[in-house]
Amino acid sequence: MKKRILSGMRPTGKLHLGHLVGALDNWVSLQEEYECYFMVADWHAYMSEYENAADIREFIIDNVIDWLAAGIDPDKSTLFIQSEVPAHLDLHMIFSCITPLGLLERCPTYKKQLREVKTRDLHTYGFLGYPVLQAADILIYKAQKVPVGEDQLPHLELTREISRLFNNLYKKEVFPSPDAILTQSPRLLGLDNRKMSKSYNNTINLSDSEDVLKSKVAGMITDPQRIKLADKGHPDICNVFSYYGVFFPEMKDEVYDWCTNAKIGCTECKIRLAHGLIEKLKPFYQRRREFAHDKVKVEKILEIGREKANAFASGVLKEVRQIAHLSV
Ligand code: TRP
Ligand code: SF4
Repeated sequence: MKKRILSGMRPTGKLHLGHLVGALDNWVSLQEEYECYFMVADWHAYMSEYENAADIREFIIDNVIDWLAAGIDPDKSTLFIQSEVPAHLDLHMIFSCITPLGLLERCPTYKKQLREVKTRDLHTYGFLGYPVLQAADILIYKAQKVPVGEDQLPHLELTREISRLFNNLYKKEVFPSPDAILTQSPRLLGLDNRKMSKSYNNTINLSDSEDVLKSKVAGMITDPQRIKLADKGHPDICNVFSYYGVFFPEMKDEVYDWCTNAKIGCTECKIRLAHGLIEKLKPFYQRRREFAHDKVKVEKILEIGREKANAFASGVLKEVRQIAHLSV
């Protein structure tokens, strides 16, 4: 029996290169070994984007097209939209009743968001329960593994805590204690050397055309001390060099030599990187175009996913309702 995986992404924007190397490539490689459920976390998006909910709908399909283009295979994995599987909310309600308030108020991601996010009002009842819904997402599939980035570790900790609380309350090992599968790949910085994020407007989107990619790479910040072609550069502080490291590790020595011996200039170095990226992403772009032109197919995939997810989740919900003495 394969172990089960559940992971999700919030549809709050277009996906970028960071999502590809930070999450999607990892998801793709997990498909053989695990039974995978990949979810569009539209409720989690709605919790913070409720004032601009129309955008969420647009991003859902766009993100799923990127998943498929990256190699998520609907014959192997179940792709679905969270809000189309109502059992998540039933379990969220049950968990809401047994989760101590302090656990949620102390959650570091919650405190950080309240402190940092100024453009949205997150002082809501729903947002406090963000990790409770995430626990329900995972546990309604009794998933043992959850591939996520490091930023999600507090939510996994809470998931295990909630699982334990439920099991202890009803003296039955209903839910597993899921572990994270941390992504191995290094973090890709944005065009301006800050974290790649749509809120900094420094991303290379997976839906960008080849020309847009070229001009974005051309605008990347390099070694500020390298002004003239003859100046020797410092690749270790250059983000362009780190991109070579992520996408073309076999070229690192060569680029290091170009740079430190002033063999080529930064403009040329970036042109070569852009060409390399375009070449490398060719199969991705090709598949992306195919799915983008066949949205009916994408919707069909999500419909099948919805049925598979519902079938599994409603089975677990039935068991849970019985154990929790709710009507069945
Ligand atoms: N909170 C996750 C994020 O922002 C998205 C998410 C929602 C998720 N439910 C999940 C991830 C369940 C893993 C498992 O990335
Ligand atoms: Fe960066 Fe390349 Fe310029 Fe060196 S030559 S500073 S690696 S862009």
